[in-house]
Amino acid sequence: MTVTTVSTTPFADQKPGTSGLRKKTPVFMQRHYLENFVQAIFDAIGGAEGKCFVLGGDGRYFNDRAAQVILRMAAANGAARVIVGQGALLSTPAASHLIRLRGTDGGIIMSASHNPGGPTEDFGVKFNMPNGGPAPEAVTEAIFLATKNISAYRMLEAQDVDLSVIGTTQMGAMTVEVVDPVADYAALMEKLFDFAAIRALFASGFRMRFDAMCAITGPYATEILENRLGAGQRTVVNGTPLPDFGGMHPDPNPTWAKALMDEMFAPLAPDFGAASDGDGDRNMVVGRGIYVSPSDSLAVLAANAHLAPGYAAGLKGVARSMPTSAAADRVAQALGIEEFETPTGWKFFGNLLDAGRATICGEESFGTGSDHVREKDGLWAVLLWLNILAVRAEGVRDILEDHWRKFGRNYYSRHDFEAIDSAAADAMMDELRGKLAGLGGLAFNGHLRVAEADDFEYLDPVDGSVSRRQGIRILFQDGSRIVLRLSGTGTEGATLRLYLERYAPGPEGLDLDPQQALAPVIAAAHEIAGIARHTGRTEPDVVT
Ligand code: G6P
Ligand code: ZN
Repeated sequence: MTVTTVSTTPFADQKPGTSGLRKKTPVFMQRHYLENFVQAIFDAIGGAEGKCFVLGGDGRYFNDRAAQVILRMAAANGAARVIVGQGALLSTPAASHLIRLRGTDGGIIMSASHNPGGPTEDFGVKFNMPNGGPAPEAVTEAIFLATKNISAYRMLEAQDVDLSVIGTTQMGAMTVEVVDPVADYAALMEKLFDFAAIRALFASGFRMRFDAMCAITGPYATEILENRLGAGQRTVVNGTPLPDFGGMHPDPNPTWAKALMDEMFAPLAPDFGAASDGDGDRNMVVGRGIYVSPSDSLAVLAANAHLAPGYAAGLKGVARSMPTSAAADRVAQALGIEEFETPTGWKFFGNLLDAGRATICGEESFGTGSDHVREKDGLWAVLLWLNILAVRAEGVRDILEDHWRKFGRNYYSRHDFEAIDSAAADAMMDELRGKLAGLGGLAFNGHLRVAEADDFEYLDPVDGSVSRRQGIRILFQDGSRIVLRLSGTGTEGATLRLYLERYAPGPEGLDLDPQQALAPVIAAAHEIAGIARHTGRTEPDVVT
């Protein structure tokens, strides 16, 4: 088999975003586009010679073709071995686990996460480090730099490898090892959670619905929930991964997982509902007639994690992204453990997890996880909830209400304004940045008086690196908070995320509708930022 060196020219738009490079599928399918990016990854990490990588993706359109290209390029660049999930499938958390379990030099994950898939939708590629976590900014910058300087890539002339069969084959000098994508991950979950207690819960008649949204968690959820834990058949719906996710938008939030929400709020609702996203790292959790906001979910999981065997020794610390509500901070304070506030993006948790300073991490964007892998993990969160429900023998509503009585309630919501004009969005953020210094002391919407306003800056306590301009925060004297930032994961125009929070200490006023409880904060946000004036939008597209 021969290695060819193919001449190419740089694409100007290969800068990795919050989580790898995401583009419309036709962009990725252009001649040289995927190849340039993959070569840039290898170049940026000091070459692939003699190295071992994990490869898999969420099964979206082009996943199978891209896998073959990446394998040929890995072989041409001298890699020794690539461990691939059967059918080129691996959920993001399972890939992270495999990288760690097998001690590889990293892995390439093909996914655009929660973005829709298909010939005209989104595709993505990201590189994860030997610790199993997304490449940090220094590495994504190096990859970007390599994409700007690329003049050639290396490609092995070879037949496709049959990825449908578990086993080992050769591609030139490189070994391709096809593994069951679920087995190692399921074994890890069995170690962390009390499967016997959860099995007993299901045996007692507890009913659950898991919506896999025609994405990657279908096989994982079916094996773990139905086969190993005895949840009833058809607990998992939309359980077969499809290249276009069955036309669904595989983002587990009340808007896109509406069918699940409707079922959980109907008279004969199951006891517990959950959904996961395209690549399996996000989760949404719903009780019968009650939605659990991701920020509350993080706080409840942190407060109750010791009930699961994997966390019985207690937590070292809890970390949350800045736009996530402060509910988890209150738990950390009560437990007397460290709390961390990081910029948006799971990669910022990596150092804290590696250094053993945080055990559980979470984000408002439906991400929760722990030090068991270096990605957020949708099914892990669902299993921890199940473990807690089994041990406490209470419903989701009881557990939430008990939590609020103990810690107070951080009313929370995120309003997204999608596909807005990028220039208008930038102008709005620039104008806002320009007036931050003058906001202190001003009152909005009658009584909300600004205490402080800034552009969030993070000093990583482990490596000392500083990340600036990570989101505008407007903090009010009564503890309410507004955060604005532009999404780093969208592929169409700009998405403005407006995060809203208000704290109610209780015991009164703990059971309001979040949108009503937050109404004054919402009004103040529109007034301060001039959202309608800049973007022409008055109503959000997605409310979480
Ligand atoms: C991805 C990352 C998360 C991040 C989320 C939101 O899912 O893995 O860590 O919180 O994107 O990103 P965005 O920039 O769209 O708000
Ligand atoms: Zn995802």
